[in-house]
Amino acid sequence: MKSSKTNDDHLRKSLIDWYDAEKRDLPWRRTNDPWLILLSEVILQQTQVSRGIEYWVKISNRFPTPKALAEADQEELLTLWQGAGYYARARRLHALAIQVSKPASEGGFDGSIPESIEQLLGLPGIGAYTAAAVASIAFALPVGVVDGNVRRVASRQTGNPSPTHDSVSIWANSMIILDRPGDSNQAMMELGAVICKPKAPKCDLCPISNSCKGKENPLAYPTPIKRKKTIENLDAAVLLDSAGWPRLSRRDPSERFGGMWGPPMREIMTDTLTPVGEIVHHLTHRELRVKVWSGQCSRGIDPSTVPISNLDRKILELAGVM
Ligand code: ADE
Repeated sequence: MKSSKTNDDHLRKSLIDWYDAEKRDLPWRRTNDPWLILLSEVILQQTQVSRGIEYWVKISNRFPTPKALAEADQEELLTLWQGAGYYARARRLHALAIQVSKPASEGGFDGSIPESIEQLLGLPGIGAYTAAAVASIAFALPVGVVDGNVRRVASRQTGNPSPTHDSVSIWANSMIILDRPGDSNQAMMELGAVICKPKAPKCDLCPISNSCKGKENPLAYPTPIKRKKTIENLDAAVLLDSAGWPRLSRRDPSERFGGMWGPPMREIMTDTLTPVGEIVHHLTHRELRVKVWSGQCSRGIDPSTVPISNLDRKILELAGVM
């Protein structure tokens, strides 16, 4: 049921007043540079705010413009991205920087981030969420964002345990204050992150609890989408040369951890190797169980000179390297 316009005005104002008073001091909230805002949103697609800060600081210092990144090797970005996971984001960000740095006559944007949702959606790695976040925060376009936090707030506020993406989007659009679209969106995400939390919501501190239809039983909203993790069994061979350096190669961009370096993981001849243990590594939808083997090779490399994923780092550590 739709509430009256006066009630909606009241709701929007309660939320933005709370945000103005309580918002976290995050480094990307101190800039209005669209590139740096886009960078923050790409990092926050799959990395928590608390962990994202250090990545944003070092990447924005090294690549303060799309052109600076476009002129660098992808591997330099992957090295800065090490440990954050989901390396396809970094590869796509590099492609985005190259694309926007092209002249307009070649389909680029002369080194600027474009302003419209359609143009943003045409860039590598930019989906509905990131396009709406950048358009509203950097360019003040009144488009609501839908992420996991916003979906949870919407589900509880409206008392709908399984809202569709479109219904959340309509609700998020209705919560935008027209002269402050970016802050309206950030206020909603902030509320979901610090108050309207999945397991321990702080309803007594919520600025919009009055209108919340889920507050008697918030944990019932939204119904979790349960998806069983697929288990994948792998083998990794840590082959050391006489100086103790492991054989590492650059993973193909089409593979998992593409562009990152690691020990051989496919079709290894385990009969000539010694088992050293197993590592269990969790990705969003998969559980990787990696049997680690050790052996010898003629020539390895110093692992500190190449970008390595957290999983490969754990594998090398288990085998006594690093
Ligand atoms: N999550 C993703 N982007 C965010 C932002 N700008 N503020 C708060 N949480 C976020």
